[in-house]
Amino acid sequence: MVRGKFVTFEGCEGSGKSTQLRLLSEYLDKTGTPYILTREPGGSPIAEQIRKIILDGKNTDMCDECEAQLYAAARIQHLKDRVIPALESGKLVICDRYVDSSLAYQGAARGLGTDYIESINSLAINKYPPDLTVFLDIPPDKAFLRKHGADENDRMEKQGLNFHMRVYGGYLSLIEKYPRICPVDCGGTKFETHSKIVALLKDKGIID
Ligand code: TYD
Repeated sequence: MVRGKFVTFEGCEGSGKSTQLRLLSEYLDKTGTPYILTREPGGSPIAEQIRKIILDGKNTDMCDECEAQLYAAARIQHLKDRVIPALESGKLVICDRYVDSSLAYQGAARGLGTDYIESINSLAINKYPPDLTVFLDIPPDKAFLRKHGADENDRMEKQGLNFHMRVYGGYLSLIEKYPRICPVDCGGTKFETHSKIVALLKDKGIID
């Protein structure tokens, strides 16, 4: 069995990622493509429990290292529970966020650095890198305006604009480093962005 393709979606808060993933999954349903759509942190029962701890707005004392390790723990569990089995059965795997989120949020914005994040995510980075990463490109100041502000119950969303600008800067550095990351301008309508994403997936040989 040929290993399926692995595609991840990245972007800042309010980039419209959820909407684009919904439109893409409708498209893949229509075309009869064998795929799974999953997300991080979470995507499998144990990883979803870890997600609750990480995002709980009451956990204000969580230190940066603990946060990074919990994302890495959820990732490895989800990889083994869902991603690897689907890839091995030849399915296309579409994942909402992956290790680039850790590099941008914990590595760049929290300041833990690339080496630290790479060292705790070695399985994901060395054995299961994505074939393609779609980066929904809109700066956080514009995105928050579109979204009418942050969710105060979400520990990550309520970090403030400076934090999210550092996340965005982190992503821009990743784009320079990894050719697999393709930015898609998402300043237009959701349907325009959707068409760009489908065209990109075709161009990269992910779908026919
Ligand atoms: P979620 O509600 O799924 O946000 P979004 O719709 O923006 O994807 O929450 C995921 C949050 O976790 C989001 O703020 C990004 C953050 N995150 C990290 O900081 N590091 C990571 O490794 C991952 C996967 C997510």
